[in-house]
Formats: sequence, C-alpha cells, structure tokens
Amino acid sequence: MAHFFTAAGIFLLSGVYAQPAPSVQSGITAAIKAASNATGSLDYTEFVNVYVGTDNFGDVCPGASIPFGMVKFSTDMTGYAPAGYVTDPTQFIRGLSPMHDSGTGSSLGTYGNFEIMPLLCPGGFDTCTTRLAARQRKRKPNTDVASPGYFAQTLDNGLRMEATATRRAGLERFTFPANSKPYFVLDLANDLPASFAGGSLDIDPDKGRITIGGRWGSSFGPGRFSYQAFACYDLLDGGAQKLSEYGVWTGDNFGLDAKGLGQKHLNLTLNLIGGVYQSGALFSYEGNPSTVNIRVGISFVSTDQACANAESEIGSSSFDDIHNKAKALWNDKLSRIEIDVPNTPANVTEMLYTSLYRASLTPNNATGETQGAFAGTSSFYFDSLYCSWDTFRTFYPLLSLHSPVEFAQIVDSYIDGWRKNGWMPECRANNLPGWTQGGSSADVIVGHFATHYHNEAAALGINLEELYSAAWTDGEVNPPEWNIQGRQSNVYNQFGYVPFAVLDTSSTGRQTREGSRTLEYAFEDFAIRQIALLLGKTDDEAKFNKRSLNYRNVWDPSVVSDGFKGFSQKRYSNGKFNFTDPKHCSPVDNVTTECSLQSDNTNGFYESSSWEYSWFAPHDTAHLIELMGGNDTFVKRLDHFFSAGYYQAGNEPSFQTPVGYHYANHPAQSVDRVRNVVFENFDITPAGLPGNDDQAAMASLLAFHLLGIYPVPSTTQYLVLSPFTPKYTIHNSYLGVSTTVNVVGFDAKSVQHTIPKGVNAYVVNVTINGVPSASRCHFDFFDVFRVGGNVTIELTSDKAAADSCLGALPESLSTGGFAKTR
Ligand SMILES: *[C@@H]1O[C@H](CO)[C@@H](O)[C@H](O)[C@H]1NC(C)=O
Ligand SMILES: *[C@@H]1O[C@H](CO)[C@@H](O)[C@H](O)[C@H]1NC(C)=O
Ligand SMILES: *[C@@H]1O[C@H](CO)[C@@H](O)[C@H](O)[C@H]1NC(C)=O
Ligand SMILES: *[C@@H]1O[C@H](CO)[C@@H](O)[C@H](O)[C@H]1NC(C)=O
Ligand SMILES: *[C@@H]1O[C@H](CO)[C@@H](O)[C@H](O)[C@H]1NC(C)=O
Ligand SMILES: *[C@@H]1O[C@H](CO)[C@@H](O)[C@H](O)[C@H]1NC(C)=O
Ligand SMILES: *[C@@H]1O[C@H](CO)[C@@H](O)[C@H](O)[C@H]1NC(C)=O
Ligand SMILES: *[C@@H]1O[C@H](CO)[C@@H](O)[C@H](O)[C@H]1NC(C)=O
Ligand SMILES: *[C@@H]1O[C@H](CO)[C@@H](O)[C@H](O)[C@H]1NC(C)=O
Repeated sequence: MAHFFTAAGIFLLSGVYAQPAPSVQSGITAAIKAASNATGSLDYTEFVNVYVGTDNFGDVCPGASIPFGMVKFSTDMTGYAPAGYVTDPTQFIRGLSPMHDSGTGSSLGTYGNFEIMPLLCPGGFDTCTTRLAARQRKRKPNTDVASPGYFAQTLDNGLRMEATATRRAGLERFTFPANSKPYFVLDLANDLPASFAGGSLDIDPDKGRITIGGRWGSSFGPGRFSYQAFACYDLLDGGAQKLSEYGVWTGDNFGLDAKGLGQKHLNLTLNLIGGVYQSGALFSYEGNPSTVNIRVGISFVSTDQACANAESEIGSSSFDDIHNKAKALWNDKLSRIEIDVPNTPANVTEMLYTSLYRASLTPNNATGETQGAFAGTSSFYFDSLYCSWDTFRTFYPLLSLHSPVEFAQIVDSYIDGWRKNGWMPECRANNLPGWTQGGSSADVIVGHFATHYHNEAAALGINLEELYSAAWTDGEVNPPEWNIQGRQSNVYNQFGYVPFAVLDTSSTGRQTREGSRTLEYAFEDFAIRQIALLLGKTDDEAKFNKRSLNYRNVWDPSVVSDGFKGFSQKRYSNGKFNFTDPKHCSPVDNVTTECSLQSDNTNGFYESSSWEYSWFAPHDTAHLIELMGGNDTFVKRLDHFFSAGYYQAGNEPSFQTPVGYHYANHPAQSVDRVRNVVFENFDITPAGLPGNDDQAAMASLLAFHLLGIYPVPSTTQYLVLSPFTPKYTIHNSYLGVSTTVNVVGFDAKSVQHTIPKGVNAYVVNVTINGVPSASRCHFDFFDVFRVGGNVTIELTSDKAAADSCLGALPESLSTGGFAKTR
C-alpha cells in the first residue's frame, strides 16, 4: 500500500520542518563520534533517529515502543497524520494515545484510541476544554524529543507529556507548571479515523482506575467491519497521587459540551447518522503536584486483561526502569547487524540503524490478544501486517538474514490466517482484513521462509506441509470475494492472465489492476513452485512453474513508448489488448486520475505505471531481456527509465529496478544507480523517505542498499553490490553463526550521489570463506549467511573491469535457473 494521492500529488506538499529538538540530531552525531573511541559494546539506540519519515508523507510513528510492540505511544495531531505524529508545526496536538501503526498509507489514519490530554482548567471542572477542537494545542516549537522506547512532546502552554512502553502497556508522565491543578480528559469514542462503533467507560474512584472498551473500524479495509479494544488507566501511581474531581463528558460540533461531575459510567452506541458523539472521562488531582504518573494497559480481549497486562508488564516499575528495559530490547535487535562505525560515514550509520529500528518496529505482536475468528488461537498472532504486497520484497528477506525466530512466528500467524479465514492475510490492519493489492503476496513471504529455513522449520514450529497447503489454496481456490484475501484465481487460471472486463460469475472484487495483478499472481505462483520443488511435489511444481510464466501473457509487443518496444498491458478475455499509455501513473504523468484502489484507476496497474511494472519478473528476467530486444536495449531502456523520470522511488514495484543491470551482465551500472537512488531519495531528516515507509518496506530496502546486497524474494539468491560501509557482521544467533563482510579497498569518497572517477566502488572480486565466488554478481544464502564466516568484497575504481559478472548471471527460470533448492 502506498498513498491515496495521485501519482503527481505526492510531490506537492513536502516541506522541511525542524520540529524535533536540535538536540536529537546533535545527540546522534555525538554518539556516532564517541563510538569511534568506544571500548566495549555500543548502545545502538543512540544512532537511531525515530523522526525519519515523520514528514513528507512517510507516515512513520516515532512513538515509544518495544520491538514489534502492540503499543506505540505517540501524540495524535490534526491534518494528514495516519501515524498520529507529524513534524508540521502548523498542526495541533489533540492528545497522547497508546496505539498506533507505523508507515501506513491510509488517509484517515489508524488507531489513536484512548487518547489522554493534560489540561489547565483555571475556571474549574465545568470549564475544561474536553472536545477535540476545543482542547487541541500547538506544540512548543523545536522541543519534541523521542528515541527508541521513549516519546516526549511539550505543549505551547508548557505542559510536557512523556511515555515509555512494554509490549501491551506503558507509563505516561506529565509535567505541569508550579502551583497548577492538573486536569486530564480521556476519550472513550475518538480515534484517528473517527470510526467509533459503540463502547463503555467506567471510573472506579477508590481504585483510581478507569476502564474503557468498545469497537472501532478499520483504517484500510471494509468500513462494515469493526474490531474490539480495551484500555485500563491507573491514575494513582501506587498511592502516591490522589484524585480530586472526576466525572464524564460528552460533546459534538453542534454545541454539545456537557459534563457530569461525580458520574462514573458511559455506555454509548454507534451514531447512525455519522460523525462521532465525543465522550470520555475528566478528572483532576489534589495538591498541585508538578508531575503526574499514569499507567496504561491495553488489550484486544477485555478490560480485565488490559489491567492484568499493565500489572504483569509494569507493576510498580519506575518510568526509568521501563525505559531502560525497552532500550535493552532494542539493542538486542539492533546489534544483530554490526558495522565498522569509526570508518563508516556518519549519515550511513544513522540511516542504517534508523532503518533497522523501523524494520523491527512492526508488525505489532498481539499474541495472546486475539479476537473474532482468532480468539483463543494457540498460534502466534501479529496485527497490522499491512500489505504483504509491500513487505514481501525486502522486509521479510531482511528478517530472514538474522531473525529466523521472529520470522517463523509471523509465518505462523500467516498460516493461522489460512486456517481460520480460508486464505492467508494480505493486508491485515486493526485486526481486520484489509484490501488486497497484487493478490496473495503472503505466498512469497512463506516461500521465502521455506527456502531459507526448511531444515529448521519444524524446530521453529512451522509445518511445511501446512505452509504449502496455505500457499496452494491462495493459488487454486477462488474466494467468493477477493478484495480482502486470495486472488481472482478462477479467471486467471482459465485464461493465463486476469482478463480485463471479464464476465466472472462466481466471485467479486474491484475490477481493476488486471496488468499488475497478472504480474504479481505469476510471481506468487513462482513462490508456490519453489515450495513444491522443496517438498518434492513434482506435478505441482510443473504446474506452478508453467503458471509463473504467465507474466508473458500480458506482454504486448506492439506498444511503443519513447522508442522502446513492448510493454505489459491489460488484456481482454478474447486476447485483444486494451492500450494504456505506459507513462500513465508514472511520476511525470500529469493526468489527474488516481492510481491506487480508487474507482477511477483504469490504468491496469497498481500504484505504478506500465513503464515500471513491465520490469517485473524477478524469477525470469533473462526472458524479459529477450522480450525487450536483448541486453543492450535492456540497459538503454533502464537508463532511459531513470533519466525520463519514470522511476517512482516511493512505491514498491520500483524496488528491484535499480539492480536490473545485473541481469544484463552490467553489475557496475547497478552500483552507480543505487548510489543515485539512495542520495536522491533518502536522508536523515524527517522528510528523508520518498513515500510512506509501508510497514518498513522502505526501511528494509534502504538497509539492503547500504549493505550492498539485494534479495530475490522466495529464493536464496542475493545480488552483490557495493556496500556503503567498509565492514559489517550479521549475527544469526538461532543458527549460531556470524557472517562478516569485509570490503577491501573501501573508500568513503564513493559514498555520494555520483561516484567520482578514480575512486574505488565497483566489485572486482568476491571471496567466500577463502574460496573465490563463482560469480561476482550474486551469492547464495546457504553458502554465506547460513554457514557464517568471512566474505571479502574487493573494490576497484576501474568500472569497465568490474562491469560483468565474470561467471553466472543471476538466475532466471528460462535459462535453467532455480533448478534446485538448497
Ligand atoms: C577519541 O580519542 C582521541 C585520543 O584519545 C581524542 O583525541 C579524541 O578527542 C576522542 N574523540 C572523541 C569523539 O571522543
Ligand atoms: C451498554 O448498554 C447496552 C444496551 O444499550 C447493554 O446491552 C450493554 O450490556 C451495556 N454495556 C455495558 C458495559 O454497560
Ligand atoms: C510476541 O509475543 C509473544 C508472547 O509474549 C512472545 O512469546 C514472542 O516472542 C513475541 N514475538 C516477537 C517477534 O516479538
Ligand atoms: C480500453 O478500455 C477503456 C475503459 O477502461 C475504454 O474506454 C477504451 O475504449 C478501451 N480501448 C480499447 C482500444 O479497447
Ligand atoms: C504534462 O505537462 C507538460 C508540461 O506541463 C506538457 O508538456 C505535457 O503535454 C503534459 N502531458 C500530458 C499527458 O498532459
Ligand atoms: C545477455 O548477455 C549474457 C551474458 O553475456 C548472455 O548470456 C545472454 O545470452 C545475453 N542475452 C541476450 C538476450 O542477448
Ligand atoms: C548528511 O545528511 C544531511 C541531511 O540530509 C546532509 O545535509 C549532509 O550533507 C549529509 N552529509 C553527508 C556527508 O552526506
Ligand atoms: C579473487 O580473489 C581470490 C582470492 O584472493 C584470488 O584467488 C583470485 O585470483 C581473485 N580474482 C580476481 C579476478 O582478482
Ligand atoms: C574469518 O576471519 C577471521 C579474522 O580474519 C578469522 O579469525 C576467522 O577464522 C575467519 N573465519 C572463517 C570461517 O574463515
């Protein structure tokens, strides 16, 4: 998933704001410098800039979280802010809330329930500003401070809000001016997408506890579905604080602003006419304390479980204890990739650890917090998978290098989706099925796991036969409604492509994206083929192998654009093509129709142009090169694609294009291109992402680019490029191995947009544990990261000498590639 703007729209509003306090960046810079002299282990959290992606529609949540945390405490702001926080200083803060997603493209936002806002009410209880529009305030400029496991923001009236987190709970700390009476408003109904579907709130003044439960709607899925969520707010800080007044309130935009001092209960249903009947609790403290501590527990099961979660995960621990525990959990993840910090450009260190941070921030681990069809499941359960179409390309491949346990847990959750719903989830959001994008990209994710960890699968709790059945079902069984799961496999399997304007008498879904759905279905079929091959299912392997070549069936050899011939196009069931200008929905397109799931997207391609999607056959690029007219034309076409501005960095179909030169035996040109792509689209500022992070799809893409490798999903092949750091080690503690990549001849001067002449940057030799690699374009997981040891990547400044694979090209089905799994 990306954004809901037109292709052109994304570039309209990016601004450079300096909202995070200057101390955030200066602290990171100092920590990286100090690491040069450090003895002993490093604190990697100090290199992370949680604000990258909080501007320019990155939609990153900078909130306090642990790795894969179910809660992410952040403020919620007005304007376009799907993750709650944005840097834009013109926006207002509505409050601080425990649940968010990071990097999603939904226009209305996601979660933001159970929001609390500290208030000063000099006129007393009845004068408090409880309604959203009345209570919202601007921030005190340039005072926002956040880091892994910690979030703080100060309002323009001086009130400071801080939070730290465990998996399902957190501590909030509020600082008030001297001699003021602290007031708080706490929401029952509001959330970011204004989706309240009924719930209740109870105040227990003796316990100092407020419990809330209700139902809300999805951020990226059918509006008729809703999920349940519960919160438990403990207000007394173990008895150190004393409540003064308490009560409930309701409000709306039509003049309602009612308060009930001493009342303890609210029970409200869905407002059928639309809009949210705002409501919640209002309370104050005795004795003008300057600091107020509040403990928050969250659950998707019950209010009792929300309170129990706060009790078991926090108990009476202090804010600093919880913050330190969160930091330790982050260091455990971040230290799985260690780099030579002293000899790495500081921006690269910051970009890498910031990316690795976000690549363990989501999806949200809601194990034991299940509802609906998943209630009480014995499987792991992850919420906010968002779109597998985004994450299969780089997010799961990155996880596969160092974190098989976490990867297996998420795969377990995917397979459980098939068990409980009939198909694997594509875009689970807010515990609900979200919209499908390219089909069933989960097949590629579980295929990637199977190809890498089939030997360990059983020990990791994964039954490969079940995994295969789940992927097979996606490919073979047509769901009656494929907007939320599965694919339109009936007509695809009948015609060998998804026909445009076809009569489908047995299933429904939005009849768009026929070109890109065919390309994605074909690659998903390749993933199923890979698992079938692994499990010795010969007939299935042959069937899915053949089907994976269906990408050829939407290739129209007659379409010409800018002198290049042959493009993917949507096609009628009678075999005729329906012409779409290949530039349509590219960044330079100024047509105003939309390119995502909107009903005016008749382009045939999803969030992308035909120019871009025509590169997509990662399992058979050799044949694509033939279709395009041979290696030379392919390379010229790639060059033109970038120079004409058709490359759209902010969307996932573009991810693999910069490394395409490898397949035409020109790996040095991929090296140049990746340098351009990184320096044109990524940096260390809040606007430092080219589009939404898409559940860390962008983060993991950047991490691969900086490490100088690129994955081919659902295979164990990794393309080799030129690292941005002289040395790194990937630790895989489950396998008990570490792999160190030494970059011989590394020159920091090569780490810029255009590699200067005479500077080492191009890969001339690759050696794996002392043995020269059979190709300098790629290596295999089973020869490298599976066994550990030393990889040497030797660089030269002689680009011509390095511009061939000196051995096998990366594999393609049509040239005999992927003949066996390892
Ligand atoms: C690192 O150590 C050297 C030598 O002791 C010293 O001159 C330098 O200032 C130190 N750098 C930092 C960033 O602490
Ligand atoms: C809320 O009210 C409904 C009736 O409108 C009732 O069925 C439900 O039990 C009440 N829930 C709570 C938690 O009070
Ligand atoms: C998810 O939570 C469960 C339950 O606490 C835990 O066993 C598991 O290790 C967690 N997984 C991840 C990836 O955080
Ligand atoms: C292609 O489809 C569009 C509708 O999306 C239609 O208006 C147009 O006439 C079709 N063109 C051809 C050549 O079939
Ligand atoms: C897009 O805009 C450019 C300049 O603004 C113009 O030259 C071009 O014809 C337009 N293209 C389309 C398809 O409208
Ligand atoms: C492209 O180049 C490679 C390596 O030189 C060669 O094996 C392949 O046949 C060429 N492909 C085409 C379509 O010419
Ligand atoms: C580091 O990033 C900042 C912010 O994008 C940029 O201004 C600076 O030029 C970069 N420094 C280097 C050495 O690339
Ligand atoms: C690559 O390195 C290995 C090991 O040092 C060496 O044997 C081989 O000759 C080198 N190849 C090239 C082309 O430099
Ligand atoms: C890797 O290199 C290190 C240091 O050069 C050496 O100690 C180690 O034995 C090597 N490991 C392998 C598996 O070759």
